[in-house]
Amino acid sequence: MTYKIHVQPSGHEFTAEAGETVLAAALRNGVHLPYSCRSGLCGTCKGAIVAGAVDYGDYQPQALSVSEKARGQALFCRAKPLADLTIQVREIAAAKDIRIRILPCRVVRLARLAPDVMGLSLKLPQNDRLQFLAGQYIDILLRDGKRRSFSLANAPHDDEFLQLHIKHVPNGLFSGHVFNALKEKDLLRFEGPFGNFFLREDSTRPAILMAGGTGFAPIKGILEHAFHLGVTRPLHLFWGGRAKQDLYLHDLVLDWEKAHANFRYTPVLSAPAPDDRWTGRGGWVHEAVVGDYPDLSGHEIYMSGPPPMIKAAKQAFSAHGLPEECLFYDSFENAVG
Ligand SMILES: Cc1cc2nc3c(=O)[nH]c(=O)nc-3n(C[C@H](O)[C@H](O)[C@H](O)COP(=O)(O)OP(=O)(O)OC[C@H]3O[C@@H](n4cnc5c(N)ncnc54)[C@H](O)[C@@H]3O)c2cc1C
Ligand code: FES
Repeated sequence: MTYKIHVQPSGHEFTAEAGETVLAAALRNGVHLPYSCRSGLCGTCKGAIVAGAVDYGDYQPQALSVSEKARGQALFCRAKPLADLTIQVREIAAAKDIRIRILPCRVVRLARLAPDVMGLSLKLPQNDRLQFLAGQYIDILLRDGKRRSFSLANAPHDDEFLQLHIKHVPNGLFSGHVFNALKEKDLLRFEGPFGNFFLREDSTRPAILMAGGTGFAPIKGILEHAFHLGVTRPLHLFWGGRAKQDLYLHDLVLDWEKAHANFRYTPVLSAPAPDDRWTGRGGWVHEAVVGDYPDLSGHEIYMSGPPPMIKAAKQAFSAHGLPEECLFYDSFENAVG
């Protein structure tokens, strides 16, 4: 059994197999709907069902409220068609020619960037390269169909190794393996690239980039890509952590500030350690952003990191005038399963 899905306003059409989510079918058919977590947690894939019916699937109420559902909205990463559908959602043009692949890779380097952050460098089989947009992520494939998402910290022009920044999560299945057992030369398998978190290169708006902890990984990729392209619009990075050790590539960012006149850096610590002797900004990183930019109506914001930071920042940025279509983010939701 297959269902026909018609997308408005683009007019694109594709088919979904019975039991397949709208998003999975769209990506399989080269139609790029917006999404991030693919787990019913972040709300990025929300769109309207104009005609037809879906099984809404499992999701968290913060991603789709009761009133949004009553107004005909659904999360396309969870919704499965029960009939032919017409849906309304904006497509993402830049990701459309990028093929999602499953590939093996070899761990060539494990570098401890902070006590709880490991930098992983991965090498693809000889002569193979992953096509991706700076800021996208991959899913590491584990046993029993489990998968864990990690953002690519390198930019496409620098793709000899794929770089990941992995935070050690207490009792974390994969991050525990990375910290306790993974060795150089080990093999992993991943699927990707995924996601819509990448620089909108056609925009001329000043960009604010905000990272929490390892949320710096995709922002690093995006900034290195922007520097490589010679982007001249203002770029202002706010990087937040509890203590100084959370800003695990602070010196690299200071070097960027010296090298690029259009780039500014504001580190923000919420709970500096006494040894940090911190004299810089304190508090929550999104509060530092709105403190410096009380009127965000002319800006564009890229942010990634822990879900509570993303949630608080979305509300604060909207209250300070940021248009919804100028906010791009990856919320580092925990894996489901
Ligand atoms: C699009 C996307 C991109 C991501 N990119 C990155 C990245 O670049 N770097 C990175 O470090 N993480 C990233 N994450 C988050 C990462 O995928 C999850 O933290 C993942 O669950 C960790 O896998 P694990 O097997 O170590 O822990 P799991 O086995 O999944 O989790 C074990 C336990 O810890 C809890 N837990 C999981 N993650 C966290 C957390 N971050 N904080 C507190 N408790 C947690 C779980 O609820 C569970 O109880 C990303 C997530 C998404 C959706
Ligand atoms: S809720 Fe669907 S992509 Fe996050």
